[in-house]
Amino acid sequence: MTLIDAAPGLSDVSVAETTIGDVRGDEGFYHYNRYPATDLARSSTFERVWFLFVHGHLPEAAELDAFTARVRAERVVPQDLLSLARTIGATPGTHRALVDLRTVLSAAAQYTGMRPLWDSDADTRREDGVRLCAMVPTLLGAVHRAAHGLEPVTPRDDLDTAGHWLHAVTGEVAGPDETRAIEQYLIATVEHGFNASTFTARVIASTGADLPSAICGAIGAFSGPLHGGAPDRALDALDAIVTRGGPAMTVADAGDVARRWAQDELAAGRRLMGFGHAVYRTRDPRSDLLREVATRLGGRTAAVAVEVERAVVDVLAQARPDRPRYANVEFYAGVVMDRCGLPRDMFTPTFAVSRVVGWTANVLEQALDRHIIRPRATYVGPPVDQPV
Ligand code: ACO
Repeated sequence: MTLIDAAPGLSDVSVAETTIGDVRGDEGFYHYNRYPATDLARSSTFERVWFLFVHGHLPEAAELDAFTARVRAERVVPQDLLSLARTIGATPGTHRALVDLRTVLSAAAQYTGMRPLWDSDADTRREDGVRLCAMVPTLLGAVHRAAHGLEPVTPRDDLDTAGHWLHAVTGEVAGPDETRAIEQYLIATVEHGFNASTFTARVIASTGADLPSAICGAIGAFSGPLHGGAPDRALDALDAIVTRGGPAMTVADAGDVARRWAQDELAAGRRLMGFGHAVYRTRDPRSDLLREVATRLGGRTAAVAVEVERAVVDVLAQARPDRPRYANVEFYAGVVMDRCGLPRDMFTPTFAVSRVVGWTANVLEQALDRHIIRPRATYVGPPVDQPV
């Protein structure tokens, strides 16, 4: 068999057919099952979009009511699993909620009876998927609170996912503006093509393993700073710029300070977190949406971020005129989450609250195709037949 040499990172190959959605990098556009994702984020609710990922169509009112009631019930996790989450969260060491979630979900198949994808039918897989996604915010909230010596909250049945998430982390019911901002963020980040975590989930699903295994693998891939682990680092960068500007820095000064900071970072060979994207060759539409959300919420950080974005994009364009890079989803994500009261170490976990819905849709789609994903590598080591 003649092997095709794919580009490093597999950026030039299509490895599956999907009806879940698409990212058109050259156009700065992405959609969920035909619906422009940022339009959904501007006009829809998270539960409605979640339903779309589960059933492949937007719900009628009665369908949405039933689905909403169901996910509110499913967010109450089995007691054993909750206890495990509390134990892991409270274990001394470097606490990282996403890593803790991965550890807890490793046990989910056992505690919830989820069977290998290979051995379960499509309806059961769909039910398991909704259940697992509904449990994620509760479990993440529990590990986070346990790490801070706090009891998990009792999930309220009068809150939608965004409100539940803020409540599960902070213990407070957030105001409508903050809840809607987080909901828009969640909608905008459900799915985004064959990124590293989604691909990882699909590879695991292709072996017929169980859903929690596929989601654990996805979380591992997602936790790296080149993928989902950047919103806190992007906000750290904003802080560094503010510190460099000093207490007297005005919003209008922020651009100049950011320009010098970005030039220095590039000269030191460092990456500017929150900028650049593997697929978008133009603006990231998620970043435009989140700038809107951040600006609507208001505050000095949002105003500074707008100036910083403009300056950093300029510096990146000057450094590589052939390959301009723009703010990605992570840049304003940190600003929005900070403004809504989420602690910095819960930024990437917030991304996982929505993305688990996209991973699950991909896992279930992959489970319909009973072929294992098994690429090959080209050996480039020393010649074989060496004496042993
Ligand atoms: N800062 C500095 N240099 C950068 C940046 C950046 N933010 N982004 C890309 N570059 C450089 C690359 O190192 C590469 O340089 P080289 O040709 O000398 O090797 C060049 O620009 C072109 O890179 P691209 O092809 O545009 O980007 P690539 O696909 O390799 O990487 C990535 C994409 C990983 C997102 C990159 O832009 C990056 O590291 N950004 C910072 C981290 C970040 O924001 N991650 C979150 C991404 S969004 C998400 O996953 C949800």
